[in-house]
Amino acid sequence: MAQAERITIFDTTLRDGEQSPGCSMNVAEKVRMAHQLDRLGVDIIEGGFPIASEGDFEAVRVLAREIRRPVIAALARSCPGDVERAWRAVEGASRPRIHTFLATSDIHLQHKLKISRRQCLEQARDGVKLARSLCKDVQFSAEDASRTDINFLCEVLEAVIEAGATTLNIPDTVGFSVPHEFAELIQTLRRQVRGIEGVTISVHCHDDLGLSVANSLAAIGAGARQVECTVNGIGERAGNTSLEELIMVMRVRAEHYPYETAAVAEQLFPSSQLLSEITGVCVQPHKAIVGRNAFAHEAGIHQDGMIKDPSTYEIIAPQSVGAPHNSLVLGKHSGRNALRVRYEKLGFSFERAQLDDVYRRFVALADKIKTIEDGHLLDLVRDVPSRTATIPDSAGKTASTWMAAMSKEDQPAHLDPADAKEKAHAAHAAHEREGEQEDYLWGV
Ligand code: KIV
Ligand code: ZN
Repeated sequence: MAQAERITIFDTTLRDGEQSPGCSMNVAEKVRMAHQLDRLGVDIIEGGFPIASEGDFEAVRVLAREIRRPVIAALARSCPGDVERAWRAVEGASRPRIHTFLATSDIHLQHKLKISRRQCLEQARDGVKLARSLCKDVQFSAEDASRTDINFLCEVLEAVIEAGATTLNIPDTVGFSVPHEFAELIQTLRRQVRGIEGVTISVHCHDDLGLSVANSLAAIGAGARQVECTVNGIGERAGNTSLEELIMVMRVRAEHYPYETAAVAEQLFPSSQLLSEITGVCVQPHKAIVGRNAFAHEAGIHQDGMIKDPSTYEIIAPQSVGAPHNSLVLGKHSGRNALRVRYEKLGFSFERAQLDDVYRRFVALADKIKTIEDGHLLDLVRDVPSRTATIPDSAGKTASTWMAAMSKEDQPAHLDPADAKEKAHAAHAAHEREGEQEDYLWGV
């Protein structure tokens, strides 16, 4: 079987990511996050923009010294002061990279930089030449490439290849591209730019239209072999390509994306959590792969399916990305089957009539509060007259712990484990049959 092609993961959480409002990180925080990125197996860590501040310079310098496996990159505008500062920050790395950039679109040249195309081309070439005189690994980014005149973009890219760039990064800086168009851009560059076959093509997509992951994947299909991305997709405005989504699309749909990365998928969730902890910025609950609800199921029909077989509603095993096991969230859409299972985890099992009664009260409560926690469930069964407590197989905390926490009068009269277990199994089988249809219908 042919070997899958390798995609280089360039992580810019600590540079573009921290440009996200509220996400800036100090030196210690960057170092802590960088160690996690190392565990996550990214190939390149862009540590910061050393000319921007003393703190950023120091952060990149410390990363370069401490983190020895990945390439450590520093960003620099295409001018001598920036390039020299970036080099001083990364020179101690085992594998340093200077990343210079210059905008190439007419919009940026006219309104922002106020320079001509000719000046732009010379500045880009000089920046790379200087960087290359200091460091053998040099990346050039044509900022706003996706809105740049294609012939001019080809000219600039040829010039920087001649000047020694080893990676060409093609950013969709304002997240304007759509996938087929972005793929075409990469194909055109591969056809038209002299010398491009000797360098790595990289892409850097922003998420203004929610297409950054799709655009990055389309670019890979067209021949890009490095993707820039960030944990939780943080970055300027709507953010960057989400690292966790990109990695998992390639894992889960390998038949469409037969590529390899060095990423350790089990570290995706821990990386997301650590970043949120450091920045204080949480991802939205429904965020793919790492959101709190990414593996939570509330609707009765879904919960019923999950209890029978997780493949009904889960395409990713939560543990494969380091996330806690699936949770059946109890709310007003939940069915009896999910409620029964949760109560059994707490050490209770009910006769059918009891379950109906508890379920009715559960739904009434769920109409008032959004999520039902275990404490609420315990309150609901406080006055169920003849509930049966089961003793769990493993020496878990369930029944005995909760029983101990209850007052004497509230405790069920009979606690014979064998008897309770038998009752639980019988009740379980009966519920399976009776509850099936209702749980299937519930929450449709
Ligand atoms: O979005 C962008 O164009 C950038 C470049 C500096 C790579 O962040
Ligand atoms: Zn960017």
